Amino acid sequence: MSGPNTNYDPVQVSALDEASVFDMRDAALAAINAAIDLAGLKEVRSSHVGDRSPLALANREIGALPPQARKDAGSRVGRARAAVAQAFEARQAVLEDEAQERMLLEERVDVTLPWDRHPMGARHPITMLSEKIADVFVGMGWEIAEGPLVEAEWLNFDALNLGPDHPARTMQDTFWVDPPEDHLVLRTHTSPVQARTMLTRKPPIYVACPGRVFRTDEYDATHSPVFHQVEGLVIDKGISMAHLRGALDHMLQALFGEGMRTRFRPSYFPFTEPSAEMDMVCFICHGSGQQDEGECRTCRGEGWIELGGCGIVNPRVLIACGVDPEVYSGFAFGFGIDRLLMFRHGVADMRDIFEGDIRFATPFGVEL
Ligand code: PHE
Repeated sequence: MSGPNTNYDPVQVSALDEASVFDMRDAALAAINAAIDLAGLKEVRSSHVGDRSPLALANREIGALPPQARKDAGSRVGRARAAVAQAFEARQAVLEDEAQERMLLEERVDVTLPWDRHPMGARHPITMLSEKIADVFVGMGWEIAEGPLVEAEWLNFDALNLGPDHPARTMQDTFWVDPPEDHLVLRTHTSPVQARTMLTRKPPIYVACPGRVFRTDEYDATHSPVFHQVEGLVIDKGISMAHLRGALDHMLQALFGEGMRTRFRPSYFPFTEPSAEMDMVCFICHGSGQQDEGECRTCRGEGWIELGGCGIVNPRVLIACGVDPEVYSGFAFGFGIDRLLMFRHGVADMRDIFEGDIRFATPFGVEL
């Protein structure tokens, strides 16, 4: 407990003499004026204005003074504190105004900026390539035909010389649609559109059929249970393999440029006879298999890229679809669009085509 200090010696309590109080006040005022922002001013508050500031501490000592000295020191310290508080408030007002103005300037919204910044989306590269291919055929005077994805078993297989016991049925691993007695499949190729076309129109027929097809394949970097094909069908008088070759070479030149050609390798398809696998010459190395002193990366040194199957339409298919094989002959081909896109644009992983990520589609350009 401390009572009034009766042995007070004013010289010892130097913190309360006039010069000391003025010093404290001036130091506080100088610090206040030196603060250049609100954060700086906050520091000045704790060191010069708040409860722990020299003037506040001096104020606490006033009570210990004898009455007269207490009055003098009280008014001295009081005036100094008032001056400091006032200066503080004035400085705070100025700095707040400045901060406000800076904020208005820095956070200004330019309402004249272009507003149309929403991502535009992109057409899928498979759609664009299918349409490009279709355009080439339309340019040759062909028509485009489409068919359903859920297809009658008869059109997907039987009409194409693939009867129920035909061993080649297992060439295409099929998704069957329940119930089995409906005999529906997810079409395993675009060839049923051939059958549909022959059944619904009279020759001459020149059609290209792009579309989605399904097989119970693994989903990995080079396979997908859903993929895309283009089928071509020509039925006319006197059609031969030479016409087939010419149509394919023309299409590839339109897509990849001059010098593109095809190569046929003997093969088997129930719906064509003779049948061939068609390869296209690699559009990077043009058949040499070499690139930059090494193996061509696009065709892996093969010089050729596998495209699909083709052949002369089997007379049994013509008969099943109501076309007289004594009068007409035709060719058909079918190839994968996904693989073509992968080669054409260096797509390493087939899954990118199917996952719908806009970042995959956008670099192909938005063509309308
Ligand atoms: N439909 C065959 C397939 O998907 C390709 C093909 C079409 C072959 C037309 C010959 C003629 O494998």
